[in-house]
Amino acid sequence: MCDREYGNGNDIVNGNGIGNGNGLGNGIGKCNGNGNGLDNIIANGHGIGNGNGLGSIVGIGHGIGNGNGLGNSHGIANGHSNGNGYVNGSGKVNGATVGKMRPMDSKVLREQGHLMVDFIADYYKNLEDSPQDFPVLSKVQPGYLRDMLPDSAPEHPEPLNELLDDVSKKIIPGITHWQSPSYFAYYAASTSVAGFLGEMLNAGLSVVGFTWLTSPAATELEVIVLDWLAKLLQLPDHFLSTGNGGGVVQGTGCEAVLVVVLAARHKMLKTNGKASLSRLVVYATDQTHSSFGKACLIAGIHEENIRLLKTDSSTNYAMPPKSLEEAISSDLAKGFIPFFICATVGTTSSAAVDPLVPLGEIAKSYGIWMHVDAAYAGNSCICPEFRKHIDGIENADSFNINAHKWLFANQTCSPLWVKDRYSLIDALKTDPEYLEYKVSKREEVINFKDWQISLSRRFRSLKLWMVLRLYGAENLRNFIRDHVNLAKHFEDYVIQDPHFEVVTIRYFSLVCFRLAPVDGDEEKCNKQNRELLAAVNSTGKIFISHTALSGKFILRFAVGAPLTEEKHVNEAWKIIQNHASKIIHNGNY
Ligand SMILES: Cc1ncc(COP(=O)(O)O)c(C=O)c1O
Repeated sequence: MCDREYGNGNDIVNGNGIGNGNGLGNGIGKCNGNGNGLDNIIANGHGIGNGNGLGSIVGIGHGIGNGNGLGNSHGIANGHSNGNGYVNGSGKVNGATVGKMRPMDSKVLREQGHLMVDFIADYYKNLEDSPQDFPVLSKVQPGYLRDMLPDSAPEHPEPLNELLDDVSKKIIPGITHWQSPSYFAYYAASTSVAGFLGEMLNAGLSVVGFTWLTSPAATELEVIVLDWLAKLLQLPDHFLSTGNGGGVVQGTGCEAVLVVVLAARHKMLKTNGKASLSRLVVYATDQTHSSFGKACLIAGIHEENIRLLKTDSSTNYAMPPKSLEEAISSDLAKGFIPFFICATVGTTSSAAVDPLVPLGEIAKSYGIWMHVDAAYAGNSCICPEFRKHIDGIENADSFNINAHKWLFANQTCSPLWVKDRYSLIDALKTDPEYLEYKVSKREEVINFKDWQISLSRRFRSLKLWMVLRLYGAENLRNFIRDHVNLAKHFEDYVIQDPHFEVVTIRYFSLVCFRLAPVDGDEEKCNKQNRELLAAVNSTGKIFISHTALSGKFILRFAVGAPLTEEKHVNEAWKIIQNHASKIIHNGNY
């Protein structure tokens, strides 16, 4: 909408439309030119509109004006125009304006929102129905997009339909389709309609709940939903908000581990003095996610004080408690201060499970903070049959899952529970005057800004709440079980084929496998598996990933995309087998 004052100039309104409309749109929007007929308002009105009018626009200078509009727009310019409006567009010009705009106009939102939902729903339908059009692993080359887009941002509005056309032609080819039913790489980015709707509602309400005051519902819902989830996971009561602990939704697992390292460090420095920082040591394994090292780096923990304990196949790549105990004793003897253990339930490489019971006992006996990173596998612990993998959680100080990995909560949503919320708050609290407020029952109020790095925060619990309500726990358990069963189905194929081997014990929905070595030739075996990975991924029909364990190049098949069914797993296995047989028989692919 152009908002021109007293002008003699020209207002140019390039509305763009998508139109399917109803003729009487808001053509030019408000053109408040107060000119005396000297303003020309030229609207190339596209608009979104529902324009069925052939409407010669009538620049209906509502209100203020003397406006004359000429044109052949579908839609009407509700312009408050005092100039001469020429509208040559079709559809409404809602929002396609120059000058003063209404960025969150409800009519525009309704119309464009419907279009966007249709676009996304079509995407999901096409992913299933026309997989040949969507190579799971994008085939574009670096820099592909630069040649397809202009050098600078548009000066004038462009129509949504043109933009969506660009998405289809230019963006989608550069998308790796994490939501494809044939996506089996890394760990999934778990989505659902409920999670999507939650994201939508979050974007729509767009509140910033850094303190209770800034959106009481955002804080209170988060507290309640994380208590619900803690109960589904059968976490000990001290992780509930009714005790000293509680949950908070962090953005990612990386943020979760960082805040707890900071909390534990703060506690230690309070006891031992700030000068002791260089003596603080932490423990994890060579399988621990790289986010832990980064958290230590940010927290100022000296790199040489990060003990990554060695793992191997004898513990299925889990942390050996004996190694931990020995490392702690040795560090204590040298004057170091052990203060943090990062245990993992479901490592990134192979979904290994560190034994929380003995590790927790060691942590407790030395007064060391134990964090449990269960980013992927922790989600499965809402099923009674998988809950055993977090037995021993009683002795952990903090516990984290990524609901965006396997609880259908869309990126990003990373619930973190702590045993003692004051340890987090002590480390991270800020109290600038401009955020102060008075409230009754002050002691009951939570300000989540003090539980995280950033101040601003999204209302992420909404989508978790929606996922839990719209599906119910029983369905969620069954979704997870389906994925585990599909992984088992794949594993059975691997076991039955003598050319292949399963490399680690499978607990969840990840299968680690490879073409087996012939005559113990590990080097050739690694080479063949690399070739196999490249070959199957280059088909565009499936996407799997890899890792290395004890120097072996391993293929990873992780089930978790929301549309994956048995037929996709069967198809994936066929592709892998076909390419493997070429590699085996040709000797060279
Ligand atoms: C075990 C584990 N921890 C932490 C992370 C990091 O999570 P995020 O990407 O949410 O930071 C991952 C990611 O795959 C993971 O597998």
